Amino acid sequence: MIFTQLNPGACRTYLIGDEKSKDAVLVDAVLEHVPDYLRILDQQKLTLTHVIDTHTHADHISGGAALKDQTGCEYVMHANAPARCVTLRLTDGFECALGNTPVKVMSTPGHTQDSVALVLPDRILTGDVLFLDDAGAGRTDLPGGDPGEHWDSMQRILGLPTHLVVYPAHEYRHRQPSSLKDQKARNPNLQPRTRQEYMDYLEGLKLGPADWMTEVLKANYACARDPKAAWIPVDVPACEVKGTLALGANDQKVEGLSVDDLKQRIAAGTPPVLLDVRNPEELLGPLGQLPKALNIPVGDLAKRLAELEPFKNGEIVTICKAGGRAHTAAQILMQAGFQNVRGLLGGMTAWKQAAL
Ligand SMILES: [Fe+2]
Repeated sequence: MIFTQLNPGACRTYLIGDEKSKDAVLVDAVLEHVPDYLRILDQQKLTLTHVIDTHTHADHISGGAALKDQTGCEYVMHANAPARCVTLRLTDGFECALGNTPVKVMSTPGHTQDSVALVLPDRILTGDVLFLDDAGAGRTDLPGGDPGEHWDSMQRILGLPTHLVVYPAHEYRHRQPSSLKDQKARNPNLQPRTRQEYMDYLEGLKLGPADWMTEVLKANYACARDPKAAWIPVDVPACEVKGTLALGANDQKVEGLSVDDLKQRIAAGTPPVLLDVRNPEELLGPLGQLPKALNIPVGDLAKRLAELEPFKNGEIVTICKAGGRAHTAAQILMQAGFQNVRGLLGGMTAWKQAAL
């Protein structure tokens, strides 16, 4: 079997070919690289029979429509894919073969409604439903995303043979493909959690979609053949859960403050600036809110830093429901030059549990 990754950047396009028949398949082709793919296929005397998208992409324009036009190959996606130019629509369990290599399609919604993974005897092409190591998995807050369905998909992947090597549709930091066994140990999205715990975990991380990604989705729904059909920033880790963070923010190490310590500071009359990063409607919920806390939802924080400028050299404590978004918010502030930021450990949930 021929198996090659063709792209120079973070988007991964896999060429799978059969040496004997010279039939070949491209998985997650990127429109701007289509001329390169055609040249490679020609050089290797391969015939492109199918181009497959593992899901509707939000971070690049698919080369599927253009390759179908230019080679007459089938354009393959899950049955739920909105793009009308798709010629072959698959559902869960579909089996086929490329030469002697069997390929099984597994429906893996969560990042999008139309996500599939391709399972081969020794590897799994996961699309954006699972990335490598600390990259975790694709975000679930784009149109069609669903954290609960993503948990369901993770369980299905956890049920596969552990020797399968994971080849994702994105790799932003040169992590190397490794087995599901390795990923079970290293990937935060594969750690044991109940469905609700998993949904809470993702909720705690999420930042809201980048506006440009919905434009890219629309271009792919419309089977765009023009690489300029939507504006796309170069190689930002947009499909990762924290993909809209400023460069370097994800590497900021955040210190936490316990609810007891915060209580003491408030009682002593020397409270830090309190920044609640939950959505406004959550502040009215049963967990309540702390007196005098400012409120900027984590998804808006990067755009509203000017409001916090007076506190840039002061002490800020970020607060959310359980600590996840507060951690992200602290990273955003630290990356923007705020000197003294900590996240409230356990968030308002811990505050309430401590009966404070
Ligand atoms: Fe994606």
